[in-house]
This record gives sequence, C-alpha cells and structure tokens, in this order.
Amino acid sequence: MGATGTVGREVVRALLACGTEVRVGARATSPVEDVLPDMRDVVPFDIEDEAIDPAIFDGVDAFFFMTPLIEDQVAVSQRILDAAIKGGIGHVVRLSSRSAGWDQRSVLRAWHREIDDAVRASAATWTILRPCSFFQNFLRYQSNTIRDMSSIVVPQGDGLISYIDAADIGEAAAQCLLHPEIHHAQTYVLTGGRAYGVKGVAAEIGRVLGRPLTYISIEEDQARDMMVQAGMPAWLVEAGLAVFAHARQGGEAAVDPALTKIIGRPATTLSEFVERNRDAWE
Ligand SMILES: NC(=O)c1ccc[n+]([C@@H]2O[C@H](COP(=O)([O-])OP(=O)(O)OC[C@H]3O[C@@H](n4cnc5c(N)ncnc54)[C@H](OP(=O)(O)O)[C@@H]3O)[C@@H](O)[C@H]2O)c1
Repeated sequence: MGATGTVGREVVRALLACGTEVRVGARATSPVEDVLPDMRDVVPFDIEDEAIDPAIFDGVDAFFFMTPLIEDQVAVSQRILDAAIKGGIGHVVRLSSRSAGWDQRSVLRAWHREIDDAVRASAATWTILRPCSFFQNFLRYQSNTIRDMSSIVVPQGDGLISYIDAADIGEAAAQCLLHPEIHHAQTYVLTGGRAYGVKGVAAEIGRVLGRPLTYISIEEDQARDMMVQAGMPAWLVEAGLAVFAHARQGGEAAVDPALTKIIGRPATTLSEFVERNRDAWE
C-alpha cells in the first residue's frame, strides 16, 4: 500500500529490481500508471472503506504497511491489519517513525507506537522500520521557497538531523519483505550516514544549483501561523513542530548503523540526493 507515496514507490521499485512479483493496492483516483508505469497487478484498496476485503491479500506473502498522515490513522490501521491477517499475510513490514521512540510527547509518537504495538501483537511475523526525517522533505515542503525566494524557511535553529533518503528506506523495506527469516521481530531505527543542519543543506543545494541559498530560521509561533495559513490541520501542525523542537534540542542528530547493515552499502549522502533531484529546485 502507499505505492505512489514517497516511500512506497521506492519499495515497489526495489522489489521489482529484485525480480519480485508485486501487487499494489490503490484507490481509484491514485496515479499508479504515472508513478509506476510497469505495474500490472493493481487491486482496489481505499483505506477509508469501512470494510476492507481480505481477498486482496490472496497469495501475498509479505505486506508493506504504511499509514498516510490522517487523523484517524490508529483506527484505520487496525482495520487494514485485521484484513491483511484474515487474508493470510505471513509477514508485515511496517513503516513507522523514529518519533515513536522519543521521550518527548507528540501525537505522532503516540499513534505510531500504538500501531507498532498492534503489528507486534498480530498473528503475522513483523519488522518495524522507524526512519528519521526524509531528505525528500526538502522537495515536498521547501521547493517553492527554494525556487522563488532562494531560501529554506523552517524553525530548526542550529539543530542537526540525520536525514535519510526515501529510496534507501525502500531498499531496506524490500530486504525485510523478502527475508522475514532474517528480519522478523526487529525494530530498526533508520537514519542517513551523518547529521546535517539546514545551513549545510542550503549550502549544498545552492552549490549544485549554482546560486546561493539562505537558511531563514524562524520562531515556532511564526512557523505555526504559516502552517495554519497553508491549510494544515492543527494536529499535523503540532506534529511537524514537534520534530523541529526535538531537532533544536539535539534529539535528531544520532546516526544508527541499521540501514547500512540491511542494504549492504552506505546510506545516500546529501550531495548524492541533491545531484539526483536538482531539476525539482531549478
Ligand atoms: N516525512 C518524513 O520525514 C517522515 C519521517 C518518518 C516517518 N514518516 C512516516 O511516513 C508515513 C508517510 O509516508 P510517505 O511520506 O511515503 O507517504 P505519502 O508520500 O504522503 O504517500 C501517501 C500514500 O498513501 C496513499 N493513500 C492516501 N490516502 C489513501 C486512501 N484513502 N486509500 C488508499 N491509499 C491512500 C497515497 O495514494 P494516492 O494519493 O496515490 O491514492 C500515497 O500512496 C507517515 O506514517 C509518516 O509519519 C515520515
């Protein structure tokens, strides 16, 4: 599921590259053909459906299980998990978040923990992936300000984050889906190979684009106003702000060796990520 999403598309690509048969569950409006033109086995799957048909899991050995950022994600996730178990799924690879392991409270910490616990308590074997912030956030949330204002605007102060490339998460998820005998009952924190501040990210994107970028570190209240004005729901605003606060306190800088062990190579670096995606900011 989530095959058109930031991580899901990378999971599908990594599985197809291994020669694995992949089934995608997607809602009717999903642009599967545009994002994954080689996909043939696509079944109807809308997470908002009260009754998810267990038959869509027929013949499927392992399930990539993510939940989009929606407010009722705990209840929705339980419905999906129940259908997958009923449909005979053997192994579940769950996309969680590093925030699930925080000491600091936040809604996403609570929700991710609750869903992770449900997966652990289920009849399937499982692997839980807890990635930190994605490099792709600089594409998704900062492309406009980078293009139009040559700036990155976030309330991160001098906080460092060990950003990860979603393609690396996809590769790690594929390994876990293909090898439950190795990865069952493991909870992996996934990070990149080193931590960066936003100043460093701005300098690297600026170097590749050939024009200077400025990091504008704003106060939390200002960021809240901007996010609310952009139409984000209050719970999502606070969830996003919690990540920046945790980074300012030094809680997002740690590097974990799990990713390299799973995929057998070093994590994608900031330079590699920026070079690969330069068109998005030009
Ligand atoms: N961003 C980060 O830095 C970060 C860090 C750690 C963890 N995470 C976690 O990663 C998860 C989000 O992953 P992502 O960024 O890959 O997601 P994403 O890019 O937002 O993609 C969401 C996916 O969910 C699908 N979807 C949405 N509504 C649906 C529905 N009603 N029925 C069926 N499918 C539906 C979308 O499909 P269509 O729209 O095509 O239908 C899309 O494939 C969250 O749990 C988040 O907490 C994110």
